[in-house]
Amino acid sequence: MYKQFYNLRRNPFEITPDPSFLFPTKRHNEALAALYYGVRRHKGFVVMTGEVGTGKTLLVRCLLELLNRSNVAYAYVFNSVLSPVEFLQYIAGDFGLPASGKTKSELLLMLGSYLIDRYQKQLTTVLVVDEAHHLSPEVLEEVRLLTNLETAQGKLLQILLVGQPELDQKLDSYELRQLKQRIALRSQLEPLDLEETKGYIQRRLQLAGANSQTGTLFPADTMTAVFRHCRGIPRLINTVCENALITAYAKQVRSITPEIVEDVAADFRLGVPHPPKAQMTAKGTDHELAQAVRTLLQLHDYLQGMRGKEEQLPAAATSGAHRHEPFV
Ligand SMILES: Nc1ncnc2c1ncn2[C@@H]1O[C@H](COP(=O)(O)OP(=O)(O)O)[C@@H](O)[C@H]1O
Ligand SMILES: [Mg+2]
Repeated sequence: MYKQFYNLRRNPFEITPDPSFLFPTKRHNEALAALYYGVRRHKGFVVMTGEVGTGKTLLVRCLLELLNRSNVAYAYVFNSVLSPVEFLQYIAGDFGLPASGKTKSELLLMLGSYLIDRYQKQLTTVLVVDEAHHLSPEVLEEVRLLTNLETAQGKLLQILLVGQPELDQKLDSYELRQLKQRIALRSQLEPLDLEETKGYIQRRLQLAGANSQTGTLFPADTMTAVFRHCRGIPRLINTVCENALITAYAKQVRSITPEIVEDVAADFRLGVPHPPKAQMTAKGTDHELAQAVRTLLQLHDYLQGMRGKEEQLPAAATSGAHRHEPFV
């Protein structure tokens, strides 16, 4: 409703994770590079964690977009409250295999021959589990068994687990030490700092069509107020900025003042402390990390191209509906 008033083409602060809105901070770039590198180099098992709303699902969708451009097949599990059999059925079904009514051993056999077949054709196959902190120990044990599927040359299935920091804690548990030992790359997202928050807000406004008036719409002290209340968490930033725009529109003012942000933050009761900062860590050689950085640089070109096309990106990018398109 405010779009016309503020001369915007689209809503700048949608909370759905839309790859065309990616603001590539150093941390997001590194994490995306780690995911992509893990898949392309057949590292086997990669884990990414981050607090609620820091951009995990967005990065997964960016990765899936990248994978759609190659001959990689993937299963994308985002409902992690599943029993072991449901979990395997879901994966097999997502790969287009006839999964219903099959027992666990039948499912494992079917998955195994599917993976070997793809491996022999030198095709990469990936399992991505979002919200993986919800996985039960029993399902994590299935994941461990899936990480065992390998030939002398390499892993048959690349597995990416993405979830909140509780996932790290689960993987740290004694029972799951075998799974933990298989992690090849591990990255963590953290909230944006003040400068990144400002860049993030400006970028979203620009992508929504605000162009030169971003400084009028959200002056520096207003963005600082947003950062203070949201502590750099992108989802909160979106919620506060969206509601600040609505409030400002109701008042028919052209510029969002820090006071408007204060009011919105009070309405949303944004006073709770945020967990400590985390760092990206990776188990692997320096050489491997250097390669990840090179991949990152290649991704940079891709991201530039994607930004140029932000208006044309298909909605399927956020739905997973494209999963079984034929491979290129
Ligand atoms: N680097 C980023 N650039 C653009 N938008 C981002 C970025 N990180 C997070 N967001 C946005 O923040 C919101 C929450 O992100 P999401 O991926 O759903 O978080 P999570 O899965 O970690 O809870 C989404 O609207 C997403 O598009
Ligand atoms: Mg998510």
